[in-house]
Amino acid sequence: MTSPKDRILVALDYNNADDALRTARAVGPHVGGVKVGLELINAAGFDIFARLLDAGAPRIFYDAKFHDIPNTVAGAVRAATKRGVWMVNVHASGGAAMLRAARDAAETAAGGGPRPLLIAVTVLTSIDDATLNGDLRVPGTAAEQVVHLARLAQQSGMDGVVASPLEVAAIRDACGPEFVTVIPGVRPSGVAKGDQARVATPADAVRAGAHYLVVGRAITAAPDPAAAAAAVAAEVKAAAHP
Ligand code: C5P
Repeated sequence: MTSPKDRILVALDYNNADDALRTARAVGPHVGGVKVGLELINAAGFDIFARLLDAGAPRIFYDAKFHDIPNTVAGAVRAATKRGVWMVNVHASGGAAMLRAARDAAETAAGGGPRPLLIAVTVLTSIDDATLNGDLRVPGTAAEQVVHLARLAQQSGMDGVVASPLEVAAIRDACGPEFVTVIPGVRPSGVAKGDQARVATPADAVRAGAHYLVVGRAITAAPDPAAAAAAVAAEVKAAAHP
């Protein structure tokens, strides 16, 4: 069973390496990993992974959101695996062949050792029903499409999906309790929502069945990020073992 602290992943949404490294040093002992997204990787370069691990980040979630033809995604996942990332994501809408290629590539590159957890993005939370139906010409609701793509991801060898706190229960029903859910939009009670419209507290997310919580500003913008991370871990622990 994953310990409460290991379920917390801190989003390092910075435009430079120094800020990311400083936060990694502070929160490293209190969390399960850090999330490196497109802003930081483009600003700081790929050696940021090794530098974060050296600074005390326990594990790296590379929020790459790969979406390309199977051969290209396979190559990218192979390269990320060799860089030692612990978790990486791809878009489920790339289709079953792309997802299977990602899984095969991670296994091959890991050479029998531990491979990264492969997580699929279903429907971006910035896409509402009108955008889905109108711009993308996908019928049905975004919630239905999320569950459809979560099933496809599971059948195609993914370990889990990124989901909003409101979708966790439906995904759990469709894919079972072992299928990993990675949940952003988490705010401890009393912390400003910022630009997140749909938020859950760590306790809500854990009770709904979330495996990993992605927490950004509630930790990184706190006066004492280490204390903020420890407080989230305590809230997760209380919710997991009431
Ligand atoms: O600062 P905050 O906790 O809102 O950061 C959340 C992190 O999760 C950011 O890196 C954001 O890009 C990411 N994310 C999100 N909502 C999604 C998917 C990812 O906030 N639906």
